[in-house]
Amino acid sequence: MTKLTIDSILCNKCGACVEVCPYSILELNENEETPAINQERLAYCIHCGHCEAVCPGGAVQLDYPEAGEVPDIKGNGKLPSPEEMSRQILMRRSVREYQDKPVPKGILEEIIKVVHYAPTGVNGQSVHWLGIYEKEKVRDLAKKTIEWMRFAVKTGMEHPLSFTFPSLVRSWDQGLDPICRNAPHLMIAYGKKDYPISFVDSIIALSYFDLLAPSYGIGTCWAGMVQIGLNESPELRESLGLPEGYKAQYSMLLGYPKYPYQRVPKRNQLVFNWKE
Ligand SMILES: Cc1cc2nc3c(=O)[nH]c(=O)nc-3n(C[C@H](O)[C@H](O)[C@H](O)COP(=O)(O)O)c2cc1C
Repeated sequence: MTKLTIDSILCNKCGACVEVCPYSILELNENEETPAINQERLAYCIHCGHCEAVCPGGAVQLDYPEAGEVPDIKGNGKLPSPEEMSRQILMRRSVREYQDKPVPKGILEEIIKVVHYAPTGVNGQSVHWLGIYEKEKVRDLAKKTIEWMRFAVKTGMEHPLSFTFPSLVRSWDQGLDPICRNAPHLMIAYGKKDYPISFVDSIIALSYFDLLAPSYGIGTCWAGMVQIGLNESPELRESLGLPEGYKAQYSMLLGYPKYPYQRVPKRNQLVFNWKE
């Protein structure tokens, strides 16, 4: 049950909590006293916590049974500058060559705890994570994906990317890993199969992961080929052991990069117009 309280001594009656609440759960009354809580609307609270987060005096308290710990904000309290953020985005690259050195589990857990704050539709927080830490297990997933691709080629299975399968199988047979790129770890964002926003939520969360990881010196690569296998092969899906009713939405390879990238590559010319 949602518990929302406002301490009338700490409240300076600024009304910020009232304005930011997306469901108008808080109401300013005519006497401009401490905002009132509309108990009927409280049932629709999505636990976004904006009321609590915006309050200058810390007067608002929101609690509910599923609530987790709030992470500490480290650093000097400043947001990265536009230059720093732009650099982060421009210098991020898909890493396909990794050092043979594991990333400490604690660092990956630290990243996931922050990525947990990526936005989710109606604050549904639909994204769950499955980390595959051991390199042999990542390799096993690549092997199973190749086995499925081999089967798809043999049976002439139709798939929009089936034209890539023969060369991927060939590379694997030559001792390369075109599926998981010999990455030491793999992170899977998963969610409920029948929840319509689950895929978008997962992609956003993985994008946040993709952007934060390089600040820890970690390189990432979206594991599209693994996803094809997971979407198509029941054996591959079962091997993950996800709970019933859940599905891997997308996965990401990660590890310490073998090569640092030195400059920003070209991209197609930007298509952007303001609506007339
Ligand atoms: C949804 C998605 C799936 C991808 N799947 C793969 C993949 O399976 N293997 C791979 O090597 N790269 C994969 N990539 C990486 C893209 O090839 C890469 O983002 C693109 O070439 C641009 O390079 P950059 O990420 O370094 O800017 C994927 C990227 C995205 C966004």
